[in-house]
Amino acid sequence: MTVDIFTKLNKNIEKMKAVVYHKKGSPDKLIYCDIDKPVPSDNEVLIKVVAVSINAADYRSMKLGLIPKRRIFGADIAGIIESMGKNTTQFNVGDEVLGDLAKFGFGGFAQYVTAPEKALIIKPTKISFEEGAALPMAALTALQAVRDKGNISKGQKVLIVGSAGGVGTFAVQLAKFFGTEVTGVCGSNNTLQTSSLGADFVIDYSKEDFTKGNRLYNLILAINGNYPILAYKKILTQNGIYIMVGGSISQIFKSLLFGWLLSFGSKKMRTVSTKANQKDLEFLAKLLEDGKIKTVIDRRYTLDKTADAMRYLSEGHARGKVIINIE
Ligand SMILES: NC(=O)c1ccc[n+]([C@@H]2O[C@H](COP(=O)([O-])OP(=O)(O)OC[C@H]3O[C@@H](n4cnc5c(N)ncnc54)[C@H](OP(=O)(O)O)[C@@H]3O)[C@@H](O)[C@H]2O)c1
Repeated sequence: MTVDIFTKLNKNIEKMKAVVYHKKGSPDKLIYCDIDKPVPSDNEVLIKVVAVSINAADYRSMKLGLIPKRRIFGADIAGIIESMGKNTTQFNVGDEVLGDLAKFGFGGFAQYVTAPEKALIIKPTKISFEEGAALPMAALTALQAVRDKGNISKGQKVLIVGSAGGVGTFAVQLAKFFGTEVTGVCGSNNTLQTSSLGADFVIDYSKEDFTKGNRLYNLILAINGNYPILAYKKILTQNGIYIMVGGSISQIFKSLLFGWLLSFGSKKMRTVSTKANQKDLEFLAKLLEDGKIKTVIDRRYTLDKTADAMRYLSEGHARGKVIINIE
């Protein structure tokens, strides 16, 4: 159902459908409604959104009250350039693009969004819009964690805790791409998925406590779950690196408060804060185009069902990415 909650619509501006955060709205506070279609500034392009994927950043920002200026979440978009600001030079009207708009005001849960050119890259034609939307934030996080923070190198043993979600599915594939031996940790429902993505070993956390084994890892990516920092330290090799990517809020606090326990001596604790950039996005899009990695899409929703999609992702057990297709 379309709900028009904004009485101050400008009659002279074209309208679009969007999912807007509204404090006094329904329990999930996301309202599907008509609002003014955005107009790009001189340095922006206007994108007709075809698909958008959801990230933990969307529902966590909402919970923390970090509301984007236009009150529309959705960072990872794929779409078609509809018009261009007069100072833009990189793209043309009709170009198919993808990008991560988290640092540029979000806005993807809508039929149209504006963005600066530097947030976008050309979507290779071989990649679908859904795949293009699934890629940005999760794959950038996995890449920057393993390559930049983890200094990953061939032959290393890598442990990926939370191998089945958006970031984890890319992390498994990227760690294999860099020539390492990968162990993924996930629940029973996802062990087959993790091994099909290339993991050499899979640990089902409901059956086995991976922190109790004798196996040591050069690199540990803590993407999800909540495990003791000292248990991680025990299973790191000398000079091993533990990277805190995410997890429960309690895991994140523990890592930030007690991470120094890991950094004492030759073992290192690092955190990752993803920085979207065209170079890394192009690298990942090429891997996807060449079939070196793939996207794992769990569920698809339509724009009017965005609140349901956010609720599903926030339950913490999505198997890969959740996509919203804009009609
Ligand atoms: N640092 C950054 O810049 C950055 C960027 C992006 C994301 N993040 C963070 O990274 C985390 C993961 O993001 P995401 O997009 O991958 O989330 P997601 O897609 O929602 O992750 C869902 C997955 O987590 C797994 N999981 C849940 N509990 C687990 C446990 N105890 N042990 C192992 N796996 C478990 C689930 O697998 P099972 O169903 O098998 O349990 C599910 O497949 C979030 O906390 C997010 O905030 C950080």
